Amino acid sequence: MLVRDAIPNDVPSVAKIHMDVWKDTYEGIIPREVLNERNYEELEDSWLDRIFDDPDTKELMLVAENEDGEVVGFIVVSTDGQDSYESMIKSIYVNEEYQRQGIGTMLFQAAIERLAEENINNLIVWTYKDNKNRKFYEKMGGKVFKEATVEVNGRKVDKISYVWDNINS
Ligand SMILES: CC(C)(COP(=O)(O)OP(=O)(O)OC[C@H]1O[C@@H](n2cnc3c(N)ncnc32)[C@H](O)[C@@H]1OP(=O)(O)O)[C@@H](O)C(=O)NCCC(=O)NCCS
Repeated sequence: MLVRDAIPNDVPSVAKIHMDVWKDTYEGIIPREVLNERNYEELEDSWLDRIFDDPDTKELMLVAENEDGEVVGFIVVSTDGQDSYESMIKSIYVNEEYQRQGIGTMLFQAAIERLAEENINNLIVWTYKDNKNRKFYEKMGGKVFKEATVEVNGRKVDKISYVWDNINS
């Protein structure tokens, strides 16, 4: 498994993983109509705009590539953080067939190294509280920070954030 910077050619695979895993992960957590309103093309366009076409982008995308050269996971971090946190995980998704094999950890660690190289000291991430995968952030050393309730299509959904106070340590 190789973790590397994404290139525009990766975006169709990224959009497919993003949408497929997102739908499965958030079924029962956020309203189905919201899950169904996205499509691959929109996600591709959005990632291309955000990562590759915006000259002022603050976001970095890394991908995990298997031995056959297929993209099986990705992470996006931003150096535009929140509260006193200088950076934020915007997305992390691993193809379901490849989960629990250490790929999320590889993506997380590679992103942390890149942020540290840019003298970023700390990190925040928000996720849905009912997402069982948030245990991953705890395993990566994240500490619970704040909770919030948001409305998604009229339904109240609880969110939770994790922080890393010193990613250089
Ligand atoms: C979260 C995600 C990126 C983790 O990727 P991964 O490749 O499966 O993670 P790893 O294999 O590196 O997991 C490392 C450790 O984190 C913990 N962990 C990961 N997923 C977990 C889960 N669903 N429940 C409990 N612990 C979990 C485990 O301790 C795991 O080690 P173990 O497998 O030896 O027990 C992946 O599950 C995913 O894409 N989920 C869907 C999207 C999502 O939820 N994104 C993040 C929002 S929280």
